Amino acid sequence: MRRQVLMIVAVGVTAISLAWSTPARAANEAEVVEHLIELVKIGRGIVSEQMQNINDPSKGDKGFTGDYMNSQVLERFKVATTLDLRIPNVVAQANLYLALIQVEKEVVDEVQPVINKAGISFKGFIPVVFARRVGEQFYRKSGVRMKLTTINYRNAKNKPDDFESEVLRMFSDSRHPKGQSYVRNTMVDGRPVLRMLDPEYAATTCLACHGAPKGALDVTGMRKEGLKDGDLAGAISVIFPLN
Ligand code: HEC
Repeated sequence: MRRQVLMIVAVGVTAISLAWSTPARAANEAEVVEHLIELVKIGRGIVSEQMQNINDPSKGDKGFTGDYMNSQVLERFKVATTLDLRIPNVVAQANLYLALIQVEKEVVDEVQPVINKAGISFKGFIPVVFARRVGEQFYRKSGVRMKLTTINYRNAKNKPDDFESEVLRMFSDSRHPKGQSYVRNTMVDGRPVLRMLDPEYAATTCLACHGAPKGALDVTGMRKEGLKDGDLAGAISVIFPLN
């Protein structure tokens, strides 16, 4: 993931953007937040790979368990970052990462009765729903907020706040370098936080639900947005409390 502290002159646009970033301190914590985003993306990718299996009406037990999720996330995180969380004492913030992986495991465990039903094809357990549940449960455990958001959101729980709306508008500007995330130290509810948004673009796998024709119903029964390959789909947004 590419990251760069953007010096956006947003003074006066919203109250939240009034706080200036302090890059020296942002560096380390921004890396932790990048790792958290990576862990959610890995989990979501694993659910995505399992879609056909999950929605296979001819099968009962799918073999897609929390333990499978847990071990795959550990393995793929190591490949992506070279950090081995199975030797946690050598990784700074390992406990936080392991808490997130534990939540990813639990979300898959909780959905077992739903996904292991035979005779039903589409079961509604899709990568975004996984990510939303993980975000909600991780927040309760850690105080770190993680969510998927976009301007024209489908689910009110994913609604962007003012800060997120502003950054999403910036991401959708053709002058914004594709893939570059946005990070800033600021205040939320009177407390210092690091906020990061990582843009997400529509890939072919997303278009079945978010693509054309705009307004037609997707498999989940919601209206498609009419996105094209490579369009901005939204962002992963993190609010990370500083001490
Ligand atoms: C099977 C259909 C389906 C696929 C495939 C799919 N989505 Fe979605 N997407 C949804 C649904 C349904 C929601 C609302 C989820 C919720 O309840 O939180 C959603 C929500 C989102 C949101 C959060 C904002 C909102 O609208 O509430 C983003 C961002 C998003 N999707 C991006 C993507 C991207 C990027 C891909 C491909 C990597 C993708 N989606 C693939 C169905 C899908």
